This record gives sequence, structure tokens and C-alpha cells, in this order.
Amino acid sequence: MTTEQTIQRIQQLKKEKNAIILAHYYTRPEIQDIADYLGDSLGLSRMAGKTDAEIIVFCGVHFMAETASIISPEKKVLSPAPDAGCSLAESVTGNDLKKWKENNPDGIIVSYVNTTAEVKAYTDYCCTSSNALDVVKSLPKGRKILFVPDKNLGAYIKKTTGIEMELWNGDCCVHEKITPGIASSMLEKYPEADILIHPESNCSSDESILKHDRAFFYSTAGILKHAAQSPKDTFIIATEEETIHKLKSDNPSKKFIPVAPGTICSQMKKITLDNLLYCLENECGEVKVPEEIRKKAILPIERMLKI
Ligand code: 13P
Ligand code: SF4
Repeated sequence: MTTEQTIQRIQQLKKEKNAIILAHYYTRPEIQDIADYLGDSLGLSRMAGKTDAEIIVFCGVHFMAETASIISPEKKVLSPAPDAGCSLAESVTGNDLKKWKENNPDGIIVSYVNTTAEVKAYTDYCCTSSNALDVVKSLPKGRKILFVPDKNLGAYIKKTTGIEMELWNGDCCVHEKITPGIASSMLEKYPEADILIHPESNCSSDESILKHDRAFFYSTAGILKHAAQSPKDTFIIATEEETIHKLKSDNPSKKFIPVAPGTICSQMKKITLDNLLYCLENECGEVKVPEEIRKKAILPIERMLKI
């Protein structure tokens, strides 16, 4: 089958089966182009909740498809690459949180959305990089807070809000490689450019980068918004490289420079047009969260979506 035929067959099956394709900005360009909705973690969660489609084909890593299934249990959520994992989601278990709660019965657990359903079931509040500051600022005062699993995003929230939190020692193996040294040398090399940094990066709590007048911290959706609204025409992109596909299509006259070569999430690239077609055709790779876990895991997500 040619690529063109694969695309046509996917489009045809989508209509026949009343399916929607959701994709994250880190997926391959051809997956982004075929998606009905392209978004960051927060946008994708919202879309999973509001679509009328009967089948959601989730082009992202496993925890994202799980989140969609928690939000929309009546829908069939399919993953073209169910083995696509995430170093953050794998760094903490439900049992870890259970133990922390036993030792801190009055404590509050805030989990980044990059966690398993089991971890969400022990969580008080969920957040994504889009709403993490608002979620933490909204918490009741004077209680001990544990933030899991991203130590970089956690450190960024602590520095920005001044709110004390205990941090889990997890990281995103992709963003962890974006260090303060790399960010500052790129700022020096491109004096005309803003640097747009995802807060999962290793430089997001570094004083000199935080205070730099050309450094801005955003979720993927925030990076896209800044690039579109800024009068500047050159940007250093300090996040997963595939984000540049959407940046370029939205802003054809602007220049986007990856912060470092190889800032790539290999797990997101597991989704291809071929396995997307196979998944839709055979309705395989279903991601379903057991009802007992789902009932608990939905609570912190609902609290987050309300904020
Ligand atoms: P956002 O989609 O919230 O920007 O997070 C990036 C990420 O690493 C998703 O896994
Ligand atoms: Fe996980 Fe990092 Fe890949 Fe996002 S980029 S899915 S946080 S490993």
C-alpha cells in the first residue's frame, strides 16, 4: 500500500466507525497531519471528554490513552502503540504514594498527568504543564504537599510560586538533557531570538535562565501561542523537536531552532501510519482502566479540569 492509500483508508475507516484521531505534538509529522485534533496533554484530555465519537484512536504514549479512557469510559480508546511508555510515568507507583499517605495522612499529593491510572487513584490533584502553577496556587494553605513525579517541573513551580513542596525524583529522559549550560549558550549564539522552554527541562529552575529577559516557560500549547503572537521572527525551541512541525506550519515566515540535536521522544515515534491503520481496522490496542481504579483516578482529573 502506498502512503496515499494508507491515508485514504484511515480516513474512510474513521467515517465508517465514527472514530476520532487525537495526537500529541510530539508524534511524527504525518500523524499530526492526519489527526482530527492535535494538542498538548491538557487539550487532549479536554477533547477526550467532549468528543461524540464512539472510538478514540489515541496517538500518544500509554498514560495519555489511559487518561482518555478514565475521562470517557463509555468510549473505546485504542492505542496504535500500546507499548509506548514514558520515563516520568514509570518513575512512581501507586504503592509509593500509598506509603507516603500513610506517613503523611494530612498531606496533599499533586500528580503531573504523566502518571499511570494507579498513581492517579492515590492522587488528590492532577495537573499538566499548562495548569500546574494554577493548581498548586489553589491548594489549601499550611498542608504538606508532595509533587510527583517530575523534579524539574516541581522545582520550577516551587521557584515561581514560593510554595514549599516535597519533590519526587523523576524526570523526562528527553527534557532532562536540556541543561542551563545548553540554554545559555544558545541564547548567546542567537542574540535576536527568544528561547521557549518546556518546564520539564533541566534548566527550568536555574536562576539565570528564569530571570533572563528572552527566556519563557510554557507547555507545548503555550510555546505555540508565544511564537504566533510575538513580533520576533527567530525562536530557540527547548522542548521535543517535533513541535517545530506545527510551529512552522502556523508561522511559515518564522525561524525555529531546536535547542539541541536529538531532543526526541522515541516513544512518541512508535506511532506510524501503518500501525494507526492496523489499530483502526482491527480495533485492537484497547486501553481500558479497571472500574475500581477509574472511579478513584477520575477525581483528581476532575478537580484539575475545574481549575
Ligand atoms: P505537555 O503536552 O503538557 O506540554 O507535556 C509535554 C509532555 O512531555 C507530554 O508527555
Ligand atoms: Fe514522557 Fe518525556 Fe516522552 Fe513526554 S517527552 S512522553 S514526558 S518521555
